[in-house]
Amino acid sequence: MAIVAPSILSADFTKLEEQIRLVEKGGAEWIHLDIMDGHFVPNLTFGPLLVSAVDKMTDLVLDAHLMIENPDSYIERFAAAGADFITVHYEAVIHLNRTVNKIKQLGAKAGVAINPSTPVGLLSEIVYDVDLILVMSVNPGFGGQEFIDSAYRKISEVKKLIPAGKKIFVEVDGGVGPENAAGLVHAGTDVLVAGTSIFKSTDITATVREIKAAR
Ligand code: DX5
Ligand code: ZN
Repeated sequence: MAIVAPSILSADFTKLEEQIRLVEKGGAEWIHLDIMDGHFVPNLTFGPLLVSAVDKMTDLVLDAHLMIENPDSYIERFAAAGADFITVHYEAVIHLNRTVNKIKQLGAKAGVAINPSTPVGLLSEIVYDVDLILVMSVNPGFGGQEFIDSAYRKISEVKKLIPAGKKIFVEVDGGVGPENAAGLVHAGTDVLVAGTSIFKSTDITATVREIKAAR
């Protein structure tokens, strides 16, 4: 069964804790946290302060997706805030090996994300060092965008790149919902991130269950 990681970007922040309880009830194992800086992506969200508040609300795995320039300057703060996974964008980092090692030294798991136009082959070296690869199935910046189909092919390519015997989570993010979850799991996805399809649905718990059951 795939891991479901609801993205709170689409949650109702006036009832965040209540909505986190609903996704827990549906069987979500991770909470996805979209950090945007208004530079790497044309949108602003939240920082370590909210991550640390969410950490107090739940025992679920906290999956921080940094859509920010110069992530090296902030990694320490996100690790201290309680992020279990810290994912940086391939496109935002020059010395990726150094950044990934820094995340791991801080005791967090390290992830690398690639935009829809970034080829999977560019990960052929870093794949030996990371714990997670995030394939973006929308151009990052906003929730509620349409799923880009090339993600299926890219997920299969990532699977082939993973060294034998190494556990790397393959995660997909953007436009994911009950309608495409089965196809994504079939392609090799371990972690399904979903914001709009979960939090804008009429039954948050049932939607998490539905995505989780997809195979
Ligand atoms: C997009 C973010 C996603 C987003 C997904 O920039 O990285 O995590 O919240 O939202 P939906 O599921 O609404 O496409
Ligand atoms: Zn995300």
